[in-house]
Amino acid sequence: MEQTFIMIKPDGVQRGLVGEIIGRFEKKGFTLKGLKFITVDRHFAEQHYADLSAKPFFNGLVEYIISGPVTAMVWEGKNVVTTGRKIIGATNPADSAPGTIRGDYAIDIGRNVIHGSDSVESAKKEIALWFPEGIAEWRSSVHQWIY
Ligand code: TYD
Repeated sequence: MEQTFIMIKPDGVQRGLVGEIIGRFEKKGFTLKGLKFITVDRHFAEQHYADLSAKPFFNGLVEYIISGPVTAMVWEGKNVVTTGRKIIGATNPADSAPGTIRGDYAIDIGRNVIHGSDSVESAKKEIALWFPEGIAEWRSSVHQWIY
C-alpha cells in the first residue's frame, strides 16, 4: 500500500492545528503508520529541502522549519500521495481552495502549515530521512470497510 510523508510545520503546531489535521487524514480513511513530535536542526532541514537549495526562499524556509517543533507522520492508503496533496491544497494559500488545509488555515506561502510529499519517490526518500528507525507494521480493523 502507498505511503506518504506528512509534516505539520512549526506554525501549525504553535497554532494548535495538530488534532484538526490528523483528524482530516483519519476521517478520510488513511492509516497513521508513523508519528513523532520533534525539533530538527539546520542540517536536517537542509537535507529535507535539498532540492530547493538554489531557490531564493531556501534560507527563510529552513529558518522557519527549525523555529519550533514539528509533527512528522507517515500516512498509508490507496493514492495517499496525490490525495494527501489535494487535502493539503496548493503551495500558496492564496491559491488553495477552501476546504483544503492551507485554504482553510493559512494566508502566507511562507507559513503554509503543512508539508506533504509530492511523489511516491520523494515519499520514500522523506520517510527514510525522517523515520530511519522504521515504522509500525499494522493494519486497521476497519480496512475492509474502506476498501
Ligand atoms: P514546494 O516544494 O515548491 O511546495 P510544496 O510544499 O507545496 O510541495 O516548496 C516548499 C515550501 O517552500 C513551500 O511549502 C513553501 C515554501 N515556498 C516559499 O516560501 N516561497 C515560494 O515561492 C515557494 C514556491 C515555496
